[in-house]
Amino acid sequence: MPSVIPIAVLGCGRIGRMHARVLARHPGAHLVAVYDLIPEAAAETSRELGVRAAAGVAEVLGDNSIAAVLIATPTSTHVDLIIAAARAGKAVLCEKPIDLDIARVLECEAAIRDLSGTVMIGFNRRFDPSFRALRERLQAGEIGRVEQVIITSRDPSPPPATYVAASGGLFRDMTIHDFDMARFLVGDIAEVHAIGAVLVDPGIGEAGDIDSAMIILRSRAGALVHINNSRRCAYGYDQRLEVFGSGGMLLAGNRHATTVQSFGSNHTGAADVVLPFFIERYAEAYSAEIAHFLDCVSSGATPMTSFADGVEALRIADAAQESLRTGIPVHLDKCT
Ligand SMILES: NC(=O)c1ccc[n+]([C@@H]2O[C@H](COP(=O)([O-])OP(=O)(O)OC[C@H]3O[C@@H](n4cnc5c(N)ncnc54)[C@H](O)[C@@H]3O)[C@@H](O)[C@H]2O)c1
Repeated sequence: MPSVIPIAVLGCGRIGRMHARVLARHPGAHLVAVYDLIPEAAAETSRELGVRAAAGVAEVLGDNSIAAVLIATPTSTHVDLIIAAARAGKAVLCEKPIDLDIARVLECEAAIRDLSGTVMIGFNRRFDPSFRALRERLQAGEIGRVEQVIITSRDPSPPPATYVAASGGLFRDMTIHDFDMARFLVGDIAEVHAIGAVLVDPGIGEAGDIDSAMIILRSRAGALVHINNSRRCAYGYDQRLEVFGSGGMLLAGNRHATTVQSFGSNHTGAADVVLPFFIERYAEAYSAEIAHFLDCVSSGATPMTSFADGVEALRIADAAQESLRTGIPVHLDKCT
């Protein structure tokens, strides 16, 4: 494999365009082409970055000069594109979730099992410098045996009703990142208990979903994990980790636009609001994710966020959905 990986981006929406920008400036990548079902979306990215706008997926996959594709299309298209790309011999970095239906995900797994190329799933939070450092220190034994984890994950504002209707629900769409983070910190999950409510946006309730949730997980090793989610947060994108162990605690806090704090007669330590949303908050993580993917394609190493991680996160999301429906904890009988 060449040291500079020729790559194409499929899907030039919110996240695809951001990935294309990262790839265009990464010294280990050569962004050859972008494609979007909406020609104008691809044309805009093509003009901005000076790359070819491909006419279709077939053109990208049939181009032998392209070694890898980044799939940033809507979730419902991921499985077909992963299979087609892997069969065409391309390495794949696909956005989360793999699909909303575990049966389709397992079909995809079977279809690509015997193909040798890299397949990586975009759980970008594992690449956040602070979360990654926290995990390294945890693994080095700094706080002893992990007993409790608190994952706080609140979006700044609710998505449109049309998005919610096709999202697969809060757990498969949003909490899936937190389920993956839980596995990153404490390993495989044995038990899931979820409660949820519509506290923010009645439209989300009308679309059959919830906008607020608290989920408790028990890891196979016995650690307890609490995830709290909201689709609305007045002070920005709230993303924090707290890990409590036998010998202490590790905390990773929010990111603010600046480090300036204000002190006055009515307040102390007032900081800027936190960074607005994922593109800003996880900018370094997305760059590190791309760098890791390119390294894996070059070296043949297994990605830190593998297809199997995508499967396990979805299994936990499904269990959370079941627990929400029944009101009782769900035991996961099989974790890879
Ligand atoms: N990792 C993260 O932080 C993160 C954040 C946001 C979204 N996502 C995921 O990324 C994916 C895309 O989300 P988004 O918010 O960018 O969506 P989006 O709707 O903004 O963009 C999707 C783009 O794909 C195009 N498209 C649709 N079908 C296509 C096809 N068959 N071939 C090529 N292009 C096609 C659409 O025209 C659109 O421009 C979703 O799976 C989502 O869950 C991940």
